[in-house]
Amino acid sequence: MREAIILVGGKGTRLRPLTNHTPKPLLGVAGTSFIRHQVAKLMDAGVDHLVFATSYLAALFQDEFRDFAGLEISYAVEEVPLGTGGAIRNAGKLLRGGPDDPVLILNGDILSGVDLRDVVRRHEARGADVTLHLTRVADPRAFGLVPTAEGGRVRAFLEKPKTAAECVTDQINAGCYVFRRSVLDAIPDDREVSVEQETFPALVAGGGLVYGHTTDDYWRDLGTPLAFVHGSADLITGTATSPLVGPPAEALVHPTATVHASAQVTGGSTVGPYAVIGAGSVVHRSIVGERVTVEPGVGIHESVVDHDSVIGAGSTLRETVVGCHSHIGAHNELPPQLRLACGIRIPAGGVRVTGTATACLTAHRVTGEQ
Ligand code: GTP
Repeated sequence: MREAIILVGGKGTRLRPLTNHTPKPLLGVAGTSFIRHQVAKLMDAGVDHLVFATSYLAALFQDEFRDFAGLEISYAVEEVPLGTGGAIRNAGKLLRGGPDDPVLILNGDILSGVDLRDVVRRHEARGADVTLHLTRVADPRAFGLVPTAEGGRVRAFLEKPKTAAECVTDQINAGCYVFRRSVLDAIPDDREVSVEQETFPALVAGGGLVYGHTTDDYWRDLGTPLAFVHGSADLITGTATSPLVGPPAEALVHPTATVHASAQVTGGSTVGPYAVIGAGSVVHRSIVGERVTVEPGVGIHESVVDHDSVIGAGSTLRETVVGCHSHIGAHNELPPQLRLACGIRIPAGGVRVTGTATACLTAHRVTGEQ
């Protein structure tokens, strides 16, 4: 038996409002929930028992996998979030393997091309306590760093570097680990524990056999809106791969959606069930949800429009997140990085960056009037 844990209990605050009612791993990416891509990848790696470490909106995971037959799934529920380390320990109670068996652990928000079988093989060949997948980043300043010695042994887990001199490596924790079962069982589960800030540094300080496996495979943390839309688009265009996605394509349009012949849906965009894309509209590297109406002449770029929303004619969205059941009137021009709460209504011409806003509709007192 090969066992795995996926950490799915986080609140996903950076992806609000999408995560207000849907946990991040259950959000739609390239036509299906992100977690299903991960589960398919684990199955390809030979995993036959999977534990979900849940907390936030835990019941929704059981709903999603109620009729799933591909592998056995167990659910560990934290009444109070235990942090990544506490969650691993808590989920570990549902594992069935022996003390030396390897346990694969994935963060529930990382899209990665790493070969999971290879990571486990290396872990076993070294007799390691923990093996981490490491990836390289162009700008290490935003991450905790993981320098390794010749042969891959982890030297330290360093806080985010503040100066150039502190950027001693470009390797970071890629959110995929293999633990020896007995090492995982030693993590406390009665309080919040961060695996990165507590468990790993303590293991290294205590002389534990902690190894890094650094690869240049595709890797993206889908935790922010822009990363989320790019991850989805990369899966469709074939830059990233999943067992659940077909051959590379420009877009994934649900068979029940209607796209006008003069509209363009490009760059790996998805258009969900019963959505309508009007004449002359452009949807580029974006996610358009179920039952969304995009009226004619709209531009949607690197954005997410959640289900049951309407984007009015001639409006433009860039790097925008529109919550569900929203109504953006015609000729709005939404500036980058806006997040619109669920159910928001913006009147026609209400928000513009360039050009003229709609004429004032308020009755003003004229000078001299009593
Ligand atoms: P943000 O709030 O936007 O930072 O997102 P997040 O809550 O998902 O946090 P983060 O991205 O740091 O979490 C990395 C992974 O660990 C995600 O898959 C989370 O679901 C998971 N995770 C984080 N904290 C917990 C926790 O306390 N319990 C469990 N079970 N999982 C957690």
